[in-house]
Amino acid sequence: MWYNVILQIKKVRAMSNSEIKEKIKVLLGSKQKYAYVRSFGCQLNVSDGEKIKGVLMELGFGFTEDEKNADLIILNTCAVRESAEDRVFGIVGSMKKLKELKPELIIGIAGCMTAQSHVAEKIRRSYPQVDIVLGTSAISKLPGLLLECLEGKKFSADISEYDDFSEAVVQVRESSFKASVPIMFGCNNFCTYCIVPYVRGRERSRKPDDIISEVRTLVSEGYKEIMLLGQNVNSYGNDLDGEVSFPQLLKSLNDIEGDFMIRFMSSHPKDASRQLIDTIFSCEKVAKHLHLPLQSGSSEILRRMNRRYTAEKYLETVDYIRSIDPDFSLTTDLIVGFPDETNEDFQATIDIIKRVKYDNIYSFIYSKRSGTKAAEMPDCNDDTVKGQRMRTLLEVQREISTENYKRFIGRKMRVLADGVSRKHEGFLTGKSNEFIIVEFEGEPSLIGQFVDVEITDAMNWAVVGKKINN
Ligand code: SAM
Ligand code: SF4
Ligand code: F3S
Repeated sequence: MWYNVILQIKKVRAMSNSEIKEKIKVLLGSKQKYAYVRSFGCQLNVSDGEKIKGVLMELGFGFTEDEKNADLIILNTCAVRESAEDRVFGIVGSMKKLKELKPELIIGIAGCMTAQSHVAEKIRRSYPQVDIVLGTSAISKLPGLLLECLEGKKFSADISEYDDFSEAVVQVRESSFKASVPIMFGCNNFCTYCIVPYVRGRERSRKPDDIISEVRTLVSEGYKEIMLLGQNVNSYGNDLDGEVSFPQLLKSLNDIEGDFMIRFMSSHPKDASRQLIDTIFSCEKVAKHLHLPLQSGSSEILRRMNRRYTAEKYLETVDYIRSIDPDFSLTTDLIVGFPDETNEDFQATIDIIKRVKYDNIYSFIYSKRSGTKAAEMPDCNDDTVKGQRMRTLLEVQREISTENYKRFIGRKMRVLADGVSRKHEGFLTGKSNEFIIVEFEGEPSLIGQFVDVEITDAMNWAVVGKKINN
């Protein structure tokens, strides 16, 4: 019997995509089958989830938000912090019951966790309910793995590195007006705390023409916000033999006709050139907001993080931006409790956030990632110290945001309405050009449209205003 299964697998790997697709459709039968796809990570991970859905849609799957109704479950994972991994293991564990109740259910694990060989091995050994393991750059191989599974293989995995660029895969987008467009994959920076370069490989930029044509199509379909994604978007093009730089790409996208906004994430401070900043100001469709991850305010910690800039250099960039627009909106990522972070190092972070006055911060307690350089560094701090520092940081930022947001009172903001407010009945919520949350009274029919709002009040997480009749 095993011999037969192995023969089947060899056959599957030699089949063309359309043959695989036809065979799957026959094996799935005439009854509509449903997939539950859940993404746990960053926006790139969510974008991969949209591609996974695209592959499944082409095989005839419908989608469900309830795993109990699913015939196929794909968990699209993140490995950036231990807590993210623990959460997935908890969920996979709880799915054992679901599989017992429905033995034909297929469970797959995709995303960054699968790229760590010890994790893939742990899944294979300890979670027999898992049928499929799919690497981050093997999304287009999902049909083959699914077919192997349907033909009786107990565990199918493909974590090889293929260049799985968007142009090869259809996407089922989560939103009809906000679209993520990955412009590059991988990272070359090897910050000492970070697992991403190990699970996503080296930087690979998509061709500018493919990106421009994707954005043009999205705009013609009515998308209003285009979010360009990459681990370090401002090194976009470095691997394309000088063909194009990120500022040049922004200019080309800005030239596309239509009423839409361009955002991008993330920019590495070491590559945030004056040319990039000037481009943000000169392109009217590029949002007036920059996410510039600082990580720490201490130059010594930044050195140990291998961030390749100092606090002073970072502040020069901020000062240049603010010399053009004094209240330009900045947000950042911060890590608290990097190995051997001293009180002085932590105070340097507090000093810098008070100086820069970010509109928002995304802060994380350092999480040790096996295989990274920082995982080998000694650490004299315990969890209590790290927890206390995190609370202090959040408290200081709350005061900064409360003060900062008052500057918008009396101003008019252009907002892309994106949903119904959960806090204020009859209100909508949206993001302004500056990436500020704006709540205003309005009909749900405005969702997906740009609305001019006059700001009347400010909180520490959002501003509130009145819709202006255009
Ligand atoms: N490429 C982006 C950059 O350099 O800004 C960051 C991408 S990373 C997925 C998002 C954030 O997660 C980082 O900016 C960092 O603050 C945080 N992060 C990464 N590794 C971490 C770790 N080991 N522990 C805690 N936070 C971490
Ligand atoms: Fe991780 Fe640093 Fe790369 Fe960002 S730039 S993904 S933090 S290694
Ligand atoms: Fe993103 Fe997490 Fe992978 S942050 S790139 S999904 S490790």
